[in-house]
Amino acid sequence: MQKLNEWLGIEFPFIQGGMANIATAEFAAAVSNAGALGLIGAGGMPPEVFQESIRRCRSLTDKPFGVNIMLMHPQVEQLAAIAAEEKVAVITTGAGDPTRFIPAWKESGAKVIPVVAAVALAKLVAKRGADAVIAEGTESGGHVGETTTMALVPQVVDAVDIPVIAAGGIASGRQLLAAYALGAIGAQVGTCLLVSEECPIHENYKKAVLKAKDRDTVVTGRSVDAPVRCLRNQMTNAYIAKEREGADRMELEHFTLGGLRKAVFDGDVKTGSVMAGQVAGMLHEIKPLRQIFEEMTAQCGQTLKKLEGMGL
Ligand SMILES: Cc1cc2nc3c(=O)[nH]c(=O)nc-3n(C[C@H](O)[C@H](O)[C@H](O)COP(=O)(O)O)c2cc1C
Repeated sequence: MQKLNEWLGIEFPFIQGGMANIATAEFAAAVSNAGALGLIGAGGMPPEVFQESIRRCRSLTDKPFGVNIMLMHPQVEQLAAIAAEEKVAVITTGAGDPTRFIPAWKESGAKVIPVVAAVALAKLVAKRGADAVIAEGTESGGHVGETTTMALVPQVVDAVDIPVIAAGGIASGRQLLAAYALGAIGAQVGTCLLVSEECPIHENYKKAVLKAKDRDTVVTGRSVDAPVRCLRNQMTNAYIAKEREGADRMELEHFTLGGLRKAVFDGDVKTGSVMAGQVAGMLHEIKPLRQIFEEMTAQCGQTLKKLEGMGL
């Protein structure tokens, strides 16, 4: 089995999750320069900003990088066309079925890696030409599915013949090793990079992630089929109370509209949407990106040796 870093021609077996409003050209380039695969998050970007970001990223790194296209973006067709036109090396997608875009992306030479939260979508995109899938469990920050990484990854691995990358709940070498054991070739990470030195979010956001404990994330929007995991705060409490009263999607959207931007740019961690995954509880320090990747990779190897020492 070829590992993710070997397949992509990078140093460490990690893809940085494409995080809307956070994964700028500068951040993606910093991740790629630190040895993993950086992604520009197109969610929240107008098409012209997206195109300019790809060009800027190219000027900031000579390493491979990619883009993440959020399929619920109102201008998704334009974003998809730009990604092909710019001949981006890797295209990942979030929140939906990207099959209609796959032929043009493949034609452009990109590796196409949709994020999936269910076996059915993994099988569909594999049949339609995806090069790999990212199987993302509900532990993740941001938009989530129902199934945990532990249950989802092996089921996706068994269902498709293309490589599987695990995402959701991975922030240490122990968890990376577990991902390999489940059959993945590497990991996509998001939450653990929020507390990197290079991550361009407001200091209050980083502090909130560092302060969080294991049970401090909640999922809003399950009742209206728009589940998002973030840190519990005034906004999520009000949102969930409204959900219990049976509020509809329109009414609930009012709570989250622009919420991530409020948290990322203004540092409003009370009424903003502080997206983060369940691993927030294990993050205690702000570190440079390269150190994060090195420590996780080293701990993975040490853990494997420990298990071998136990006769496993
Ligand atoms: C703040 C934040 C924003 C995110 N935004 C996106 C996004 O725009 N598109 C996407 O495909 N995934 C998004 N995700 C999910 C990540 O790409 C990644 O799959 C996930 O964070 C991995 O799980 P982890 O948070 O447990 O590391 C986001 C995650 C976070 C934490």
